Amino acid sequence: MPRWLRRLLIAAPFALFALVLLGALASHHDSVRGPDAKPLPGPPLKQIAKAHGGLLVGTAADETGLRNEPGFREDLAREFAILTPENAMKWAFVEPERGKLDWAAADRAVDFARRHGLAVRGHTLVWYSQLPGWLQDGTFSAAQLRKVMDDHIATEMGRYKGRIRTWDVVNEAVADDGTLRPSVWSDTLGPSFIADAFTTARKADPKARLAINEIGAETLGRKSDKLLEIVKALKARGLVDEVGFQSHFNLEHGVPKSMAENLRRFAALGVDVAITEADVALREPAGDDELRAQAGVYRDLVDVCRAVPRCDSLTVWGFTDRHSWIPDSSPGYGSATLLDDELRAKPAYRAFAAALAAP
Ligand code: XIL
Repeated sequence: MPRWLRRLLIAAPFALFALVLLGALASHHDSVRGPDAKPLPGPPLKQIAKAHGGLLVGTAADETGLRNEPGFREDLAREFAILTPENAMKWAFVEPERGKLDWAAADRAVDFARRHGLAVRGHTLVWYSQLPGWLQDGTFSAAQLRKVMDDHIATEMGRYKGRIRTWDVVNEAVADDGTLRPSVWSDTLGPSFIADAFTTARKADPKARLAINEIGAETLGRKSDKLLEIVKALKARGLVDEVGFQSHFNLEHGVPKSMAENLRRFAALGVDVAITEADVALREPAGDDELRAQAGVYRDLVDVCRAVPRCDSLTVWGFTDRHSWIPDSSPGYGSATLLDDELRAKPAYRAFAAALAAP
């Protein structure tokens, strides 16, 4: 045997051992709760859910938390089965200037999810909001805009092909009065933009589940009626797999009485339903009574989803008050999530966990 081969044979096991050790150290490092995290009571939410019917519990992930905060990353990986990048996949973020694509934050979220075994909800391809200026203020003909939309869907879905469980293809297409919401899309392309977006999406990643996501359509009424009509037409063409109900609530408007019935009429069309952006905003400063009432709303929401057989995932819109869109979007309100801003469990967290574990 040549000497180099003998050396290699002797050295190889040591090298392998060192590699394994390094890997173990790295993953151990990842699983140490950061200095900014407090121990959470009980088993992780996703584990409780798995043992009691298999509901998938998800969260939106704020990009700064994901990038810089060990405790945030720790809780995200420990507690949740699905990650929705909160902003990173939106058009304004991925293509701020026309043709200049920036995938850094979206890649980071998708990589984190893969490393920690979370599924990803892609959010969102065609929406009236958080569009780049060049698109929002552009003067496109219908044919041009259609191509811009199709290219965007194909490019973004193509990049993450095979790595996204569900895509929010179209977001918030319906206005509160039950008409189509005015937008760049509906104004220029008319109502057909919805089916066209889904057709393009289906081709771009045939294995991804395709969702239409809506705000304020949790209750029976004009808005959900219109959504139902849209979903029925999409489903007839095999274009939609899931309907997302955002479920942004507060104490005045908690889980509506008709929510389960509403979700069931969608499920009856043969699609899954999901709660995609749940939070419960409190008027600040929030006291113990409000925190307890908030816990009740979260419990109701878990109960509704568990009562509807096709409600297979429940995603909260952020899991810590440290990163929540509520104070910015609803001045005077806050404290909307399960953990406080030091990542300590609030009554809402305990109620959520208890509701997941209920028989
Ligand atoms: C919000 C984000 O949470 C904020 O950080 C951002 O400034 C605005 O958008 N419906 C949606 C989400 O579908 O994308 C929105 O997210 C909240 C409402």
